[in-house]
Amino acid sequence: MIPSRFARRSFLAMCLAVFASGVYAQDYQPQVGQEGKDVVWVPTPETMVQRMLDMAKVTPKDFVMDLGSGDGRTVIGAAKRGARALGVEYNPDMVELSKRNAAKEGVTERAQFVKADLFETDFSKASVITMFLLPDINLKLRPKILNLKPGTRVVSNSFTMGEWKADQTSNVKENCTTYCTALLWIVPAKVEGNWQLADGELKLKQEFQMINGTLNSGGTETPVKGQLRGDQISFTAGSAQYTGRVNGTSIVDGSVKTGSNSGQWTATKK
Ligand SMILES: C[S@@+](CC[C@H](N)C(=O)[O-])C[C@H]1O[C@@H](n2cnc3c(N)ncnc32)[C@H](O)[C@@H]1O
Repeated sequence: MIPSRFARRSFLAMCLAVFASGVYAQDYQPQVGQEGKDVVWVPTPETMVQRMLDMAKVTPKDFVMDLGSGDGRTVIGAAKRGARALGVEYNPDMVELSKRNAAKEGVTERAQFVKADLFETDFSKASVITMFLLPDINLKLRPKILNLKPGTRVVSNSFTMGEWKADQTSNVKENCTTYCTALLWIVPAKVEGNWQLADGELKLKQEFQMINGTLNSGGTETPVKGQLRGDQISFTAGSAQYTGRVNGTSIVDGSVKTGSNSGQWTATKK
């Protein structure tokens, strides 16, 4: 064969291969239960996607990350609410499928996808994390999640986070037969330790969002019990109800109510 004819044939064969791989990609049909790196693919029912985004109160101000994003449905749902959203998915075919799905829904700009291992991914910039993984994977991710900015919302389809109890749980009945429980956690501020108040000392122990300890004031020690919701702290000490906002080593915007009396308080970490 003369070189020019050979070149033409090679070029034609290459074009056919590229076309065939394009057609294959467009036809890619994921199978429910197909292998994934650490978890198989099972899609979250659409009604659950919406409930999860509702619970996380996703708005256009959010940056949502779905860890193990499958066909992209949660990311696309968040983008349709105006949020910026990023799906992290190990399977490259699913990543490409997600991109096509996002394009079909007209949200390419806000819905993005990366082929990556969720264990190697930095999700510290997310204001909302969504996931449908497994209990042991949630547990492995838990230390990293607890170090996120206080107030970060984390929503999981069905699977729990060990002893860190969910702040809210919701069951979806409509168009959902399996995996129909959504769980929400709000990353709590870290408050364990001793705090100086104007008229006393607050000693706090913390287990996830739950707090207890003592308030020493005027020579009296009163047991304290309460909780955190992101950076919002609330606790009771005897008949007094305290609320405030944790800002690093300060508690600000504090209000205290005892019966019909109310006042203000602040605290500084010792
Ligand atoms: C149960 S599916 C959930 C899909 C999607 N989030 C949803 O709710 O519809 C879990 C997904 O995680 C992906 N996956 C498994 N291990 C992963 C890993 N280490 N890093 C990134 N993605 C992973 C799987 O390929 C699968 O698409």
